[in-house]
Amino acid sequence: MDQFQQSIKGWRILIERQLRLFLRASRLKSRAVAVPVHYVFANGGKRIRPVLLLLACKTVGGRVRDALPAAVAIELLHNFTLVHDDIMDKATSRRGRPTVHTKWDQSTAILVGDELMALAYRSLLQTKSARLHAIADTFTQAFVEVCEGQGLDKEFETQRRVSLPRYLTMIEQKTAKVISAAAEIGALVGRGTVRQVTALQRYGLHLGRAFQVQDDLLDVVADEAKFGKTVGRDIVSGKKTYLLIRAD
Ligand code: IPE
Ligand code: IPE
Ligand code: MG
Ligand code: MG
Ligand code: MG
Repeated sequence: MDQFQQSIKGWRILIERQLRLFLRASRLKSRAVAVPVHYVFANGGKRIRPVLLLLACKTVGGRVRDALPAAVAIELLHNFTLVHDDIMDKATSRRGRPTVHTKWDQSTAILVGDELMALAYRSLLQTKSARLHAIADTFTQAFVEVCEGQGLDKEFETQRRVSLPRYLTMIEQKTAKVISAAAEIGALVGRGTVRQVTALQRYGLHLGRAFQVQDDLLDVVADEAKFGKTVGRDIVSGKKTYLLIRAD
C-alpha cells in the first residue's frame, strides 16, 4: 500500500470515529429513529464524499482535523439521499442489507431521512471556519440540487425518450453536486484561494458525473454481492440510465 492509500485508510478511520462520537453526542431518544439511524451507518459505505472533502482540505494546505465535522455532515446528507432514494426507487437492498423502508416501514424511512438532514446541519455548524457562511451556502445548494435532480429522475421514468443533455443535467443535479460540494467545502475549510476552491469544485463536478455513469453501468454488470444493491433494478423501473439513452 502506498503513502496515499495509507492516508485514505487513516482518514476513513477518523471519519468513522467522528461519526460515532457525533451520533452518540446527539443522544437520539426515540428508539423508532435511533435504531434505524444506527443501522444505516453500521452498514459501511465507501465514504467517498467525506474522504474527498478531507482530501480537498489537505490539498490546499488545511488541517484535516478542522474538516471532520463538515466531512460527517456531507456523509449524513448523502445517507439521507440514499434512504429516501430507496423509497422512491422501491429498492429492497442497500450495502448488502435490507433498505430502511423494507426492514421497518416507509414512514420510518421518511423520518430517518429527515433526522439525518437535521443532524447534517448540526454537524456542519460545528465547523470552525471564518467561511462558515459560504460553506453552509454550498451545502444548502447541494441539498436543493439533489432534490431537483431526484425530481427529474422521477419525471424521466415515464418519458419514452430522454436526450443526452437532459440526462447529463439530471445526473449533475442528483449526484455530481453533492460530490462537488464535498470538494468545494474541503477547500473552503482549508482556506484555499478562490482559484483553488473553483478548481476543486469543478473537479468534483466531473468526478460526480463519471461516478453516476459508472453506477448506471454497475446496475447491469456488477457482482451483486459486492455491489450491495439488486442488479437490473434500473431496467425494471424504466430508469433513464446512460446505457439506456445510448442504446435508444
Ligand atoms: C450511491 O452512492 C448513490 C449514487 C450516487 C450512485 P455510493 O456508491 O457512494 O454509496 P455508498 O455510500 O458507498 O454506499
Ligand atoms: C443516485 O441515484 C442518486 C441519489 C441517491 C440521490 P441512484 O438511484 O442510481 O442510486 P442507487 O443506485 O440507488 O445507489
Ligand atoms: Mg434513484
Ligand atoms: Mg436508487
Ligand atoms: Mg443507481
